[in-house]
Amino acid sequence: MKIAVFSTYTYDEVYLSRFNTGHELNFFVLPLNEQTVALTKGYDAVCIFVNDTVNNTVVKALHENGVQLIVLRCAGFNNVDVAAAAKLGIPVVRVPAYSPEAVAEHAMALILTLNRKTHKAYNRVREGNFSLEKLMGFNLHSRKVAVIGTGNIGKAFCNILRGFGCKISAYDIYPDPELIAAGVIYGTLEATLSEADIVSLHCPLMDSTHQMINADTLRLFKKGAMLINTSRGGLINTMDVISALKHGQLGYLGLDVYEQEGKLFFQDYSEDVIQDDVILRLISFPNVLITAHQGFFTQEAMEQIAGTTFQNIDAFAAKASLHNQIKTG
Ligand code: NAI
Repeated sequence: MKIAVFSTYTYDEVYLSRFNTGHELNFFVLPLNEQTVALTKGYDAVCIFVNDTVNNTVVKALHENGVQLIVLRCAGFNNVDVAAAAKLGIPVVRVPAYSPEAVAEHAMALILTLNRKTHKAYNRVREGNFSLEKLMGFNLHSRKVAVIGTGNIGKAFCNILRGFGCKISAYDIYPDPELIAAGVIYGTLEATLSEADIVSLHCPLMDSTHQMINADTLRLFKKGAMLINTSRGGLINTMDVISALKHGQLGYLGLDVYEQEGKLFFQDYSEDVIQDDVILRLISFPNVLITAHQGFFTQEAMEQIAGTTFQNIDAFAAKASLHNQIKTG
C-alpha cells in the first residue's frame, strides 16, 4: 500500500522503516489537517499521530483523494472524527496498547521529580551549591494516590504505586476486578479526588471527561495536593488549574500533555518568542513540571507501535478482520 505518514520525526522514520512489511512509505514532517490534506491525493492510507487533526472536513477530503484507511500510531483517538470516517467507509485503526508501563513510569517520574526536586538539585550541585534549603519532599510510602482511569496505563501505574507502599484509590466507570482483589479501593470521582495526596489522570479524553478537573472538582482536592496528567490536556481546565496553583489549593502540577500542545509540542522553539501566554504562566511556577508528551517515548513502546501499525495495515491489505479498528456508536 502507498502510505502518507504525517507528523514524522527522525525516530518515527527509523522505527517505521525498520518494521515496514513492504509498503511504500512517504514521510511528511507536516501534521495532517485541513491545510495539508491535499498532500494525500493518490495514497491508499494515512498514518497519523496525536496532534494531527482529522475532523469531518479532513475525512471528506481524504475520501475524495482515494484514501481508504486511517492508521493511528497511538492509542488515543480524540483527534479523529471516527463517525464521519465510518459514514464514508474508511476504517480507523490504532495501537490500543503499547507498553503501558512507558506512560505509567513517566507519571511516576513526574511525581518523584516534583516531590524530591531532583531537577533543582541537579542544577544546584553543578553550580557548587550543596545547600538543602527548599528541597524537602515527603515520603510516598502510605500516601493516598487517586488513579482516575484504571485501563492499561492506570493499572500499570497502580502496580508501580503498590511497590512504593502507597494507598491506592481509584475511579473508573468500569472498575477492574484484579485491582479490587489487590486492594485498590474504588469510589465516586468526588470521594476519590477529595481524599488523595496525589491525583493521576489516566482516562481517555471524551465529551464525558472533557475538563473533568475544573474549579468545582479542584475545590474537592486536599489543600496542597499534587495533580499529574499524562493522558490528554483537555481533561483539565488549564485556567482553573492556574488559579488553584496561585491560591495554593494545588501544591504541585506535573503535565505531559497540554490542551493547546498541537501548536508547541514536538518542536524546538528555543530561539523564538513563544506566543502561548498560558503555558508560559504554567512554566513560571516553581511547583510545576511540564514535559512535552514524552510518556510513550521508550524503545519498547516505539517497537510495539511500529509492529502493531504494520499488523493493522497488513490486515487491511489482506482484507482480514481489523482487530484494532475503532468502533463507532
Ligand atoms: P485504556 O482504554 O486501556 O483505559 C482507559 C480507562 O479509562 C478504561 O478503564 C475506561 O473504563 C476508563 N474510562 C473511560 N471513561 C471514563 C470516565 N468517564 N471516567 C473514568 N474513567 C473512564 O487506555 P490506556 O491505554 O490506559 O490510555 C489512557 C490514556 O492515556 C489514553 O486515552 C491517552 O489519552 C493517554 N496516553 C498518553 C500517552 C502519553 O505519551 N502521554 C501515551 C498513550 C496514551
